[in-house]
Amino acid sequence: SPFRSAAVLSDSYSAEASELADIEWDNLGFGFIPTDYMYMMKCTQGGNFSKGELQRFGNIELSPSSGVLNYGQGLFEGLKAYRKEDGNVLLFRPEENALRMRLGAERMCMLSPTVEQFVEAVKETVLANKRWVPPPGKGSLYIRPLLMGSGAVLGLAPAPEYTFLIFVSPVGNYFKEGVAPINLIVEHELHRATPGGTGGVKTIGNYAAVLKAQSAAKAKGYSDVLYLDCVNKKYLEEVSSCNIFMVKGNVISTPAIKGTILPGITRKSIIDVARSQGFQVEERLVPVDELLDADEVFCTGTAVVVSPVGSVTYKGKRVSYGEDGFGTVSQQLYSVLTRLQMGLIEDKMNWTVE
Ligand code: COI
Repeated sequence: SPFRSAAVLSDSYSAEASELADIEWDNLGFGFIPTDYMYMMKCTQGGNFSKGELQRFGNIELSPSSGVLNYGQGLFEGLKAYRKEDGNVLLFRPEENALRMRLGAERMCMLSPTVEQFVEAVKETVLANKRWVPPPGKGSLYIRPLLMGSGAVLGLAPAPEYTFLIFVSPVGNYFKEGVAPINLIVEHELHRATPGGTGGVKTIGNYAAVLKAQSAAKAKGYSDVLYLDCVNKKYLEEVSSCNIFMVKGNVISTPAIKGTILPGITRKSIIDVARSQGFQVEERLVPVDELLDADEVFCTGTAVVVSPVGSVTYKGKRVSYGEDGFGTVSQQLYSVLTRLQMGLIEDKMNWTVE
């Protein structure tokens, strides 16, 4: 049977998973590479998730009438696992993803796994796919938990059943620029989020909604789109796939979380890292005009990690921030964060989980 319990699997996969997968590990990008196992768990009629299990990675069956396919009742998460030199694997703050999924589920009228169930499922999935965790320095294993309304509906209503699924894929740099700075264009017609909407949770529709502006930007040679608030069309919100930060002297500013911005776990971690490094961090309304005068701009996200911004184009005017590489501040923050994530420096905050 493809459905085997984690305990049974752990015997059979341990030998297989201890070897490195036979793929080209240099120059991994952010494209999907299928791996060995995925994790599936459904909620029972009483409303609790139970009997989660690993199964061979593959297509899933879904009713054409499912809530996720018809009314977009779906959430996703993203986190990464890094292989250490000693062969062990580190997760970064997985309980934060679990909590964020629970908050998102509440907003989307969905049932969700407990924090313990989520974290345990992530661990099992990573261990079962250990051979796909890139060698140290070559990238990470991207972990993609999904929560979807899998039960059938026809009239608009929350689905009667939910499925939690985790799949994984080895990844390198998110942007095709690699570690080179990205070029952003400010969008002022299309908006990602509205006050009272779902911009602050990781619902799948938020990402479909940005594809049009992102495609147009890419067609013009930009890496991604920077969104403004939809009320004043004046304050920074976020980039399609990541949060944004601006540096001026010793002060680092980032848009405050107020329901229209995704509360990034990398964002939150970088704020703490920056403060621990002696920077003053302000979470506030950041007018787009301030970008004209910034020393450095950078983005944060699980997928993008810390990505330097080389330029921002706003109303036809391109502002450059050193298009050669990292700025001093973003380099420092990137270095501390990634060394922490890879277990290369002491984890005083207890953020990593082996
Ligand atoms: C992540 O950074 O993990 C995300 O979920 C963004 C996604 C568009 C790749």
